[in-house]
Amino acid sequence: MSDNTAALLDRIKSKKAKVCVVGLGYVGVPLAVASAQAGFGVVGVDVEKEKVAMINKGICYVEDAYSEKHLPDLVRAGFIKATESLPEGATSSDIVIVCVPTPLDAKGEPDLSFLRSVAKGLSKNLAGFKLVIVESTSFPGTTKDIFQPLLERDGRKPERDFALVYSPERIDYGNARFGVRNIPKVVGGINEDSTRLGAEFYKTILDAPVITVGSPSVAEATKMLENIFRYVNIALVNELAVLHETLGVDFVEAINAAATKPFGFMAHYPGPGVGGHCIPKDPFYLVFKAKQAGFALRLVSASKAVNKMMPIHTIDRLAKALKAGKKSLAHATVVVWGLAYKGEVKDTRRSPSLELLKLLKQSRANIRVFDPYVSNVTVGSKVYDSGRSEFESVRDADALIIATAHSAFRSVDLSKIKSLMRDSPILFDTRNIRTRRECEQAGFTYLATGRP
Ligand SMILES: NC(=O)c1ccc[n+]([C@@H]2O[C@H](COP(=O)([O-])OP(=O)(O)OC[C@H]3O[C@@H](n4cnc5c(N)ncnc54)[C@H](O)[C@@H]3O)[C@@H](O)[C@H]2O)c1
Repeated sequence: MSDNTAALLDRIKSKKAKVCVVGLGYVGVPLAVASAQAGFGVVGVDVEKEKVAMINKGICYVEDAYSEKHLPDLVRAGFIKATESLPEGATSSDIVIVCVPTPLDAKGEPDLSFLRSVAKGLSKNLAGFKLVIVESTSFPGTTKDIFQPLLERDGRKPERDFALVYSPERIDYGNARFGVRNIPKVVGGINEDSTRLGAEFYKTILDAPVITVGSPSVAEATKMLENIFRYVNIALVNELAVLHETLGVDFVEAINAAATKPFGFMAHYPGPGVGGHCIPKDPFYLVFKAKQAGFALRLVSASKAVNKMMPIHTIDRLAKALKAGKKSLAHATVVVWGLAYKGEVKDTRRSPSLELLKLLKQSRANIRVFDPYVSNVTVGSKVYDSGRSEFESVRDADALIIATAHSAFRSVDLSKIKSLMRDSPILFDTRNIRTRRECEQAGFTYLATGRP
């Protein structure tokens, strides 16, 4: 072990090391809070002035129960502060954790400009030996072949100036059971000393196990595998759901039955599409890398085709059901319950609801929306304001689509909802949170994804 590594290891163990978190978003804020809670002094860096100001006032703007609970006290006690200046944050710290966005560009390819910009900025500000950790999601090779050379631009050298690690972020937005501190952490460094430092740091701030792997690329591949696994499995159940609707077989019941198998099966559920920040985006990072290597990831392409078809399938089914009741989608009033991409969150990024709204507008339906967490969404040039309540939103409507599994929709009185709607109303439960029986007893024509 080098002297630099030994000295930083001591500073980590004694909590004297200072931590700089670059990118104060959904990933960076919980990480800053966990580091500060473990006893490290933390400086957060963000290019957005408003976010920096809010953090310095102790205001938690990310929807994360753990951060909301602890951030105000940690800021007040001086454990966390924020700045817009990367040089200020980086020079005063021993550990720099990079959590900036890695979106897709207009062509649907990886946009690494945020990561590149931070790497270049850091190369100028590596005064003293530092542990640099990349947490932003990307394809294998990003840390070693793209980030590291930029870090070395100003004559910096690994071992002498920095240790470098990739550690994928696995935080599941809105998950009440698993948060930043109890999700196991995978760590892969560019050399043994880097891995050792990264592992020691995460062991100090987390309650969860830390798993070390042989290189940053293995850690990056781990993240790609996890999210492609979800993307492909969701596509699988979506495709089979559509088939079983036609076969007249309740496929959701089949999934629940399959889930009783104690090995070799993990339940995924069909829905109106795939949304959220990560799952619809991350697979296309590996698709890009594969293309560079002369490979086509056929399963990901097939999954994309299936997942993209789900909102279209949903609206087609609704149109057919309306027609069977002698109504037309073009003249019907359709209410969409749920704008967020999953239950109990307010995040609408890539939400399937947005796609449903687009398709309904194209069909010239009269549209209303309600989401207890979201006040409005903009799709194209149109702003959809959420109604004040479930009841207000359905007045004189012909059809109701449950698009998000918010718990409020699980318990709302369906008979009362039906009584406010027009004759022969349709309830389309795309999330399978209500039973056929209760919907039909309330007087609805019942539709549900994966159910005939
Ligand atoms: N959101 C999730 O649930 C999640 C889960 C796992 C992994 N990830 C990955 O983590 C990374 C960050 O995601 P996020 O959801 O926190 O994004 P986010 O958009 O919520 O936050 C990123 C922050 O970085 C800031 N930023 C951009 N450029 C910067 C720069 N040059 N210097 C300093 N700050 C800068 C932005 O202003 C923003 O506040 C992405 O790679 C994402 O794919 C996200």
